[in-house]
Amino acid sequence: MKVLVTGGTGFIGSHTVVELLQAGHEPVILDNLYNSSIGVLDRLETITGVRVPFYQVDLLDKEGLKKVFDENDFDAVIHFAGYKAVGESVAKPLVYYENNITGSLNLYRAMKEHGVSRIVFSSSATVYGGDFESPLKEEFGTGTTTNPYGTTKLFNERILTDLAAADQELSAVLLRYFNPIGAHPSGLIGEMPNGIPNNLLPYIAKVATGQLPYLSVFGDDYDTPDGTGVRDYIHVVDLARAHVAALSYAEGHTGAEVINIGTGNGYSVLEILHAYEKACGHEIPYKICPRRPGDIAVCYADPSKAKELLGFSTVYGVEEMCRDSYRFTKENPEGIL
Ligand code: NAD
Ligand code: UFG
Repeated sequence: MKVLVTGGTGFIGSHTVVELLQAGHEPVILDNLYNSSIGVLDRLETITGVRVPFYQVDLLDKEGLKKVFDENDFDAVIHFAGYKAVGESVAKPLVYYENNITGSLNLYRAMKEHGVSRIVFSSSATVYGGDFESPLKEEFGTGTTTNPYGTTKLFNERILTDLAAADQELSAVLLRYFNPIGAHPSGLIGEMPNGIPNNLLPYIAKVATGQLPYLSVFGDDYDTPDGTGVRDYIHVVDLARAHVAALSYAEGHTGAEVINIGTGNGYSVLEILHAYEKACGHEIPYKICPRRPGDIAVCYADPSKAKELLGFSTVYGVEEMCRDSYRFTKENPEGIL
């Protein structure tokens, strides 16, 4: 299939482009390069041997978007483009709603006007809020989001569900990601947070490579085996493979379908820290700090629906996640330029 990948030079998008090419699809990337680099295209070419067509276009630019659709006959869209920093979304809700909602509406309208009827959307386990107990199942519905970022994911799920109800041709696969980490095993593409990372793995990676002095562990008094927060970490290459499976599903089905993408296993902050120490071969300094506001104790997926509907299950474990994260961070201390 010819697939428009919005946000395709970003972390998850770039890994998905590799898997799409390896599965025989024809990806075209649209990205405004707000949170990624043009250098990713060279890296993708080195990994796959293919120069992926690229449009530097912002989803808020309706004319630019129209041109991309006019010039290509897409069979499907995978929609990654959006802002994703939870804390920033609390400080700048308007910016988040405009980019993640208005930008998405522009995309959905362009799809409709050009007869493109398959979409895979990047949702998040954050739509469950803290309202349900893990393992989280799709049938639980959605909970109370705790920040504007999470609300933009929830709204996009609702919008696509409404669009699919109104259009019998539309297929919308709403993937609820758990915690994507790791990098491509080649060491050529990976996660590149701007400035000081908010998320656990990029932070540990910077401590392990000497760019930051120690990890702050946000709370050791949760009701978990070692008191630190538990999450369902998934290797980004596994997550990328899930998108290829979701595209096949979208080809054979219509309607909106919500699907968890996780491993089904929970690991604590300290377990991840120790796994990373094995990967980098030395101790990683840390300090126990107060809980981070808004965090929940435990969050992991029931991944059975992905297995049943998509035939998808993960293959990589925490060892590979830490190994690949470390390799990418060590080999690209300044990210991808
Ligand atoms: P990322 O920031 O690396 O990639 C997103 C890409 O979208 C970036 O390259 C950015 O430049 C681009 N972009 C942003 N706004 C745009 C716009 N208006 N027009 C065009 N391009 C735009 O993020 P990621 O980690 O790869 O996440 C991809 C998607 O998955 C996001 O929607 C994110 O919310 C969602 N998600 C991520 C996680 C995670 O932990 N990484 C978890 C759940 C869901
Ligand atoms: N943590 C630390 N120290 C840090 C960073 C994180 O101890 O410096 C802890 C957190 O308290 C939490 C765990 O590590 O227990 C994971 O935290 P992350 O920030 O890496 O991930 P979250 O689960 O909080 O959030 C992530 C994404 C959200 C997404 C959510 C659910 O950042 O965008 O998963 O998908 F909504």
